[in-house]
Amino acid sequence: MIAAPPQETAMAFPHSRPRRMRRDEFSRRLMREHVLTADDLIYPVFVHELAGRAAVPSMPGIERLSIDELLKVAEQASELRVPALALFPVTAPEAKSLQAEAAWDDNGLAQRAVRAIKQRFPELGVITDVALDPFTTHGQDGIIDDSGYVLNDITVEALVKQALSHARAGVDIVAPSDMMDGRIGAVRAALEAEGFIHTRIMAYSAKYASAFYGPFRDAVGSAGNLGKSNKFTYQMDPANSNEAIHEVGLDLEEGADMVMVKPGMPYLDIVRRVKDEFGVPTFAYQVSGEYAMLKAAYANGWLNEEACTLEALTAFKRAGCDGILSYFALDAARWLRKAQG
Ligand code: PBG
Repeated sequence: MIAAPPQETAMAFPHSRPRRMRRDEFSRRLMREHVLTADDLIYPVFVHELAGRAAVPSMPGIERLSIDELLKVAEQASELRVPALALFPVTAPEAKSLQAEAAWDDNGLAQRAVRAIKQRFPELGVITDVALDPFTTHGQDGIIDDSGYVLNDITVEALVKQALSHARAGVDIVAPSDMMDGRIGAVRAALEAEGFIHTRIMAYSAKYASAFYGPFRDAVGSAGNLGKSNKFTYQMDPANSNEAIHEVGLDLEEGADMVMVKPGMPYLDIVRRVKDEFGVPTFAYQVSGEYAMLKAAYANGWLNEEACTLEALTAFKRAGCDGILSYFALDAARWLRKAQG
């Protein structure tokens, strides 16, 4: 005897069938709460003084770019409607110093890169990192005393000079990533005083002392300078959450237009708290180590690259992000375009 095929029959229980809304594509689309688009993405890029491109071994698919190559990437980003690039210069070892003077050189690499992009692609947003670590011989984000402690107020003066130099080059957004106290207020006051009233500040407000930045430090060449030291005296303890709310509140009072949480995926609880508490433009940085980790799994065939990347980026939006800095930004924008048909 052949058994009768299983039949769905009316049940007295459950009364609620949430699967009804998940049954068909049309109703899944109707109740979808968040949609990732290219508008949500910011692409971080490494710029070097050399010609052409150089691979970053711990970040497969990411290269350091000459300004000529950067312009090609800027063109792709514009074409894909990715709103902005975030620039990270790789300083030549001989240009590094104790006081990081190269950081505010109007003819420095970051400044030249900004001018080149704004001239060719004026509509593309350009973000620069305000911090001294690419320029210091010791790899710290600020100026140190004899004991190696990063001095706050002297560093803030240097950061102000760096931010003004970026503003003079025409940058749209300066992004202080240094975690010194009071730097947002100081940078804002200086920008206003110099007439740069449209220069936006994206504050790395809740930036944690994370081990996930390792591949970035390889990419900008600061890992060797930093050696075995750490950034625990200024970046936040990964164990803390209330402190992030305090930091974001201060940066907003001091004049930040946008706030950022960093790293990303392991810190989405912080994003959600920040968004709920302040309701301001909130960003997160899916950092180099997160990228490296996913790429390693993709390379082994352990995870599906397109599906996992888009899922991860959508999770940032669900957590409350208005935008995501991601090394996957251009690939994600391509996949999203393909999906639209
Ligand atoms: C430097 C800076 C870092 C990152 C962005 N800006 C590294 C650090 O603080 O050591 C990390 C980005 C990444 O890991 O992708 N101020």
